[in-house]
Amino acid sequence: MPFVVRFFKGNLLLGSAHVDMKSTLIELAEEAGVKIPTNCTSGTCGTCMVKLLEGEVPLTDPLPSGLDEYLVEQCARLSCIGIPIGETSVDLTPPL
Ligand code: FES
Repeated sequence: MPFVVRFFKGNLLLGSAHVDMKSTLIELAEEAGVKIPTNCTSGTCGTCMVKLLEGEVPLTDPLPSGLDEYLVEQCARLSCIGIPIGETSVDLTPPL
């Protein structure tokens, strides 16, 4: 069964898309008709930050400059470079 990524704003489900193991959260959001703001699209600015509610969106090592240890502890992920690899839910409200 294919995995699905779900995009929430609080309790409201905005849309969902099938995880293909290579598309970023931004690309999948677009497919789902969900708009996530972006700026640098390279993991630097933090504009596209979302909160991971469940699932796996692996981090790079070292962390991209748009994230730090504290933000990671708060489940922050950057949509422009984050690729979900399983059943995933994110909240568009960043954990700040
Ligand atoms: S758009 Fe800048 S970190 Fe994603």
